[in-house]
Amino acid sequence: MRILGISAHYHDSAAALVADGVPVCAVQEERLSRRKNDAAFPLAAIEWCLERSGVEPEQLDAVVFYEKPMLKFERIVTMALRGFPRTWRSFPRAMKNSLGEKLWVKGIIASHLGIPARKILFTEHHQAHAAAAFLTAPTRAAAILTADGVGEWATLSVGRGAVRQDGGTDIVPLREIRFPHSLGMLYSTFTAWLGFPVNEGEYKVMGLAAYGRPSLAGEVRKVLLRTSDGGFALDLSYFDYHLSARSSFSPKFVDAFGPPRDPWDPIDLETDRGRHYADVAASVQRVLEDTLVDVAIALHAETGLPDLCLGGGVALNGCANARILRESGFQRVFVPSAPGDAGCALGAALYADRVHFGTRWREVPDHPFWGPEAQPGDLARIAEEDGLPCQREADPSLLTRVADELCAGRIVGWVDGACEYGPRALGHRSILAAPSDAAMRDKLNRSIKFREEFRPFAPAVPIEAAARYFDLPPGGERLGRFMSGVFPVRPEWRGRLAAVTHVDGTARVQVVERAMAPRFHALLEEVGRRTGVPVLLNTSFNLAGEPIVNTAAEAYSTFRRSGIDLLVCGPVLVAKNRAAQAAREEAVA
Ligand SMILES: [Fe+2]
Repeated sequence: MRILGISAHYHDSAAALVADGVPVCAVQEERLSRRKNDAAFPLAAIEWCLERSGVEPEQLDAVVFYEKPMLKFERIVTMALRGFPRTWRSFPRAMKNSLGEKLWVKGIIASHLGIPARKILFTEHHQAHAAAAFLTAPTRAAAILTADGVGEWATLSVGRGAVRQDGGTDIVPLREIRFPHSLGMLYSTFTAWLGFPVNEGEYKVMGLAAYGRPSLAGEVRKVLLRTSDGGFALDLSYFDYHLSARSSFSPKFVDAFGPPRDPWDPIDLETDRGRHYADVAASVQRVLEDTLVDVAIALHAETGLPDLCLGGGVALNGCANARILRESGFQRVFVPSAPGDAGCALGAALYADRVHFGTRWREVPDHPFWGPEAQPGDLARIAEEDGLPCQREADPSLLTRVADELCAGRIVGWVDGACEYGPRALGHRSILAAPSDAAMRDKLNRSIKFREEFRPFAPAVPIEAAARYFDLPPGGERLGRFMSGVFPVRPEWRGRLAAVTHVDGTARVQVVERAMAPRFHALLEEVGRRTGVPVLLNTSFNLAGEPIVNTAAEAYSTFRRSGIDLLVCGPVLVAKNRAAQAAREEAVA
């Protein structure tokens, strides 16, 4: 059974291929098209998946799209009619979006792939999120919680997944909360009010929250009302997103929280205004966390299961995930490497495989590396053509050299094998640096990432040493596997880990297991042998506004345009001329 999964047309399009019950490959369109958060129909990703797996379109048993276009269309029409006449402006735009590619997905897939329409299936959006979370986790029975902005109608759903004795799989929905009542939209509305781009800037809200006090949580609770059945409802008088295509918050929202920030005005935390933004961010973060924790506590009580699988874009909120693990009663919390919409391509394919076709349960390899492989030979050729000497060195001497360079304060571009599926670099497309000095964080922000100072960098640590440096609750290592949890750095190590410790003493740590990323794990150990602290700063290998690099050529281009000192791809290592680099940095300073 060969099944292609597709997510598209909202943000982060992707394709994934499942054969004989296990993923073969998966990639986001942005990695190939080089347009960040590319939402277009993922032709390049589909083509790559088919080529990578050696499957012709006619050999596919099914192509599965990650949501039901008619249900989405129904939501748009219903909301427009409910809001009439205020919606008359936004309605034509919403109709155009929906009536364009979205509604005619079946025809688009059939014509692009040349396959009969009967082979094209649809999952509901939250079914795809649930499947991406449950069917990739190493568990055979779990509660499932998914939350995002909106799919067709559902914005939060709870359910349970189980593998039966006969090897069949059940994913049973228990209940859902429907649009326009949405935790994701609540968070996105505050993201927009804070002047950050929606669907990308949510990380910034979480980063900024650490600088503030949740002093306005009471105000936010007037916006997000809790209901007696354990759910929630938004007071819609604070919002416009269900009525307007232009603005997400209403004048009443502005009365409660003040005028929105102009995106071009920097946030100065020394001023009252800057502190107010941080307080609002802290307040919405607190209310989001409290709500999710309460939903998870109720779900734990209802299911009595020890495992929870989290999906949907809201599961990218590492602070909330850590609190769910600590406070909900679940012993293990699994978040896939791609809990957002990109991950739905794999989720939709796995859902069709297990639930629609009833394929017997198969264990899914527990790693995020489903994307294209970088070719070290390409790096060697490009560097030589560009006049930079490159060296080929086998492990362990290559790892020794890289560890020496990192300990000497150099920044390393690290490319190894297949790229990650999901938004985080987990040791295959990473920029690495020493974690000890806050000046390194500022240097990275200034010369590579070009981003706001209040956004923290993440550390990576071998699983064997994680508890020494980070205050992990039971199950914390698992949440750290794909960098899905934010945990306190132990106070005695905050000084030695200054570049990766956020202002509130926390870090979004990646806990690295040898079996998942052996070379990255070995490099961390090598660093530990030199400094006594096997921790590295690990940030995604991209410049601001660009997708994470995919090929060796893209890595080389990024290396040349930034302050990265050393680039490694497999056994090939390229270093910049230090004298020239120092002169360049001086000129920039
Ligand atoms: Fe979603």
